Amino acid sequence: MATYILGIESSCDDTSAAVVCDGVLLSNVIAGQKVHENYGGVVPELASRAHQENIVPVVEEALREAKIKKEDLNAIAFTRGPGLLGSLLVGTSFAKGMAIGLNIPLIDVNHLHGHVLAEFIKREPDSEVPEFPFLCLLVSGGNSQIVLAKSPYDMEILGKTIDDAAGEAFDKCAKLMGLPYPGGPHIDRLAAEGDENAFKFHKPHLPGYDYSFSGLKTSFLYTLRDRLNEDPEFIEKNKADLAASLQKTIIEILMDKLEKAYKDYPVGAISVGGGVSANSGMRKAVEEFCRKKGIKAWIPQRVFTTDNAAMVAVAGYFKYLKEDYCDLASPPYSRVKI
Ligand code: KG4
Repeated sequence: MATYILGIESSCDDTSAAVVCDGVLLSNVIAGQKVHENYGGVVPELASRAHQENIVPVVEEALREAKIKKEDLNAIAFTRGPGLLGSLLVGTSFAKGMAIGLNIPLIDVNHLHGHVLAEFIKREPDSEVPEFPFLCLLVSGGNSQIVLAKSPYDMEILGKTIDDAAGEAFDKCAKLMGLPYPGGPHIDRLAAEGDENAFKFHKPHLPGYDYSFSGLKTSFLYTLRDRLNEDPEFIEKNKADLAASLQKTIIEILMDKLEKAYKDYPVGAISVGGGVSANSGMRKAVEEFCRKKGIKAWIPQRVFTTDNAAMVAVAGYFKYLKEDYCDLASPPYSRVKI
């Protein structure tokens, strides 16, 4: 008999629901939240309220697109953390209520596991998926990590950021340039027209596989400050070159540590995940590296790089196979290791 899992994601500012059948994706509905655009970042209380408005229609739409009734579901998987607590509470409470109402198992998913498992979102039963072990560069607005994925249940963080995440570096520098939030996609677009060698910014010298982006952010700020003193039109005149140079520096920082990790853990494949992996320069850099090493690069479709419930449903399906269910009393958590 077919196994249907509903996935629910509400860790930040996207309300999403998805259905998988025996691991194959049937639907993936995502409702974004425009309300944050005026604030230059996600406002937790507004995110939580918007999730409350969105969750029922989003779940109904996911079931409708999957062409199943809620009574057909075998389990409900939800993002338990990490994320914004007020946002997580909406998805968690909804998943619990629905699991109780349908008398089916509840499965908690670590959001970061979901991102690492994004390449296991199958479109067809025989879709190709990565072989374990592989390295995953997980880069989002809240995380920058190199993960060694040994199995769907066993992942190790080799390195992580000690300050800002790569997405924050994109967003904060974009904000300094007067670009709207989130700035990452704007930098990406502008970078395509700029000279990536026009400006030099700070790169950290940390041992091991850890990342740091705060020095880069400061050097970007000081460059703007000094050059604006000479020419108030500096940003306007150099937007594309600034974006291209910033993007190049962030990618170099990310790739240096990824290459180091690959040297020590020579796996057969590298994947990327998280919102920043939508960046065209980063996708190219990882593909190029893997091509040189003769290994497989797994670059998810853009819709699966950002927060989505398809990855939660798939991660939940792996746990369902092991009957690894979650207690109804389990609270969400804002911080968690992988
Ligand atoms: O994973 P995600 O959707 O959620 C959070 O962790 O919040 O990642 C969002 C981050 C933001 O910092 C955004 O600027 C960045 O992903 N991002 C990008 C691009 N698209 C999204 N950064 C660089 N280039 C892009 N094309």
